[in-house]
Amino acid sequence: TFGGGHERGGLRFTPVAPNSADALTVADGYASAVVVRWGDPVLPDAPAFDFDNQTAAAQARQFGYNCDFVTFFPLGRERGLLWVNHEYTDENLMFRGWTSGDTVPLEQIKIGLAAHGGSVVEIEREGRTGQWKLVTRGRRRYNRRVTAQTPIRISGPAAGSPLLRTAADPRGVTAYGTLNNCAGGTTPWRTVLTGEENWNQYFVGGNGVPEAQKPYLTRYGVSTTVAIPAGNRRFDRVEERFDLAKHPNEINRFGWVVEVDPFDPDARPVKRTALGRFAHEGATTTLTRDGRVAVYMGDDGRFEYIYKFVSDDRYIPGFDRHNRDLLDEGTLHVAVFTGDSPAAEIDGTGKLPADGGFDGTGKWVPLVSGKKSFVDGMTAEEVLVYTRVAADKAGATKMDRPEDIERNPVNGAIYAALTNNTNRTAANADEANPRASNRHGHILEIAEDRNDAGARTFRWALPLVCGDPNDPGTYFAGYDKTKVSPISCPDNVTFDAEGNLWIATDGNALGKNDGLFAVPLAGPERGHVRQFLTVPYGAETCGPLISPDQLSVFVAVQHPGEITGATPDNPASHWPDGGTTQPRPSVAVAWHKQGKKIGS
Ligand code: FEO
Ligand code: CA
Ligand code: CA
Ligand code: CA
Repeated sequence: TFGGGHERGGLRFTPVAPNSADALTVADGYASAVVVRWGDPVLPDAPAFDFDNQTAAAQARQFGYNCDFVTFFPLGRERGLLWVNHEYTDENLMFRGWTSGDTVPLEQIKIGLAAHGGSVVEIEREGRTGQWKLVTRGRRRYNRRVTAQTPIRISGPAAGSPLLRTAADPRGVTAYGTLNNCAGGTTPWRTVLTGEENWNQYFVGGNGVPEAQKPYLTRYGVSTTVAIPAGNRRFDRVEERFDLAKHPNEINRFGWVVEVDPFDPDARPVKRTALGRFAHEGATTTLTRDGRVAVYMGDDGRFEYIYKFVSDDRYIPGFDRHNRDLLDEGTLHVAVFTGDSPAAEIDGTGKLPADGGFDGTGKWVPLVSGKKSFVDGMTAEEVLVYTRVAADKAGATKMDRPEDIERNPVNGAIYAALTNNTNRTAANADEANPRASNRHGHILEIAEDRNDAGARTFRWALPLVCGDPNDPGTYFAGYDKTKVSPISCPDNVTFDAEGNLWIATDGNALGKNDGLFAVPLAGPERGHVRQFLTVPYGAETCGPLISPDQLSVFVAVQHPGEITGATPDNPASHWPDGGTTQPRPSVAVAWHKQGKKIGS
């Protein structure tokens, strides 16, 4: 099932050595450049960035903070649109003398609200190379900012539910803003899906909600004993809705997949409730054999789950009015993974079982379809709003932090990054999460039965168990471990057209900078991991995205210089502007200097 097929695209670049440089370092033969930085003008009338005189009004028109998911929509050969998520803010790096949200000027909190969300920016090719630049002149009619305050339509089966109604929106159909947008995806009808991930951190007053609500807040990581959790940004000082004691339902309006039309800057984004509510890492769409839309989604938490939505209706190319409602009607499933080796052979060390692989079979358990719940004791609306609770009851398999998921365009299999889980123990290790104190994570491969994204059953395997290849608890698909790059904490993933998996890391537990890696999944090179680039000191690698023409790879360099104790008066990074400048989260592009395809 796995590793079969003809190896179409060799990766030939020489790996970049692990390092701790304050630089974006790319493989020999490649060049890189910054495309767009925190604070760069997005709307044509935005002011130039001024670190020491930033305002919320400026930030709402400029590129936001901590870029994450990146996707690209060509506008012909020489122009295109980038959508970029702005996951969260590092106030201690954004403001001099920042102490705590409890006491800072309200303007700083407003800047934080405006620095979240996402951006649409128009970019153009530089000459005939794989380099792309921000368009800085002219109308830029698609350019747009979405923030933590943008009106967003709530759609799907939970829209209007009493669980989603608030004082400001008694009908439960209009939310304000999107938060902690991590990974994402695109649809066949050329819209963006962006996942609301760790939205639980933005609220206060969890101790003051009705008793019946408290177990649900706890299940989603919100304190019900503390009024103001330590480190809270105190958005409630600007907007009372972030105080759960006063507005207990406001939090239920976050935790969704949000759809954005990058081609219509006036169109309201849409929160798609049929896709469930959890810490959405991303949302990857593909078509089933009969033409319906499947969406694969990870819930990034320790011992959380992997989900799949399948639409009721088929995608009809060109029939936008029909396609745009497809994500409102369908069935949400959660994954159960069963190993094929005896449990006694999974000892928590990462040692392979006697059959030579961490692998087995699995099934997608339906949770809810429209107004019909498949979970005892929960209504359909409750399953959609409290999806984690429903998945607990369904007996889903608790995974090691499911992050980004992508479908391989060559073999059709599904690949998920499981970033790490240091709370896993030998006692609760299983074949799909085989290591105790899993610091380095692993990659999961799912082959749906009949290679149909609509299937209810699948086979699965772990092609990579990450870490230092000298560590016996690692596995590189059986490839010679003396020849691979060390890799730790896989987070975001993408594919090139040849079916090689590209893996961005977050939190390299081997002590060096994060980076971007590539690995073939077929043929004799399966498992040959090579590091393609490293990001600057203190940053994680997000995006990544290979352009449709295969000539450019975009990466989002998130939180350069984010280390304990760093401040604007003592920055840990000066990337990308150098000298004594402040670090700025930015999207960069790399390309081959001789115009060859990425990976050459
Ligand atoms: Fe925002 Fe799970 O990374
Ligand atoms: Ca096995
Ligand atoms: Ca991520
Ligand atoms: Ca991350």
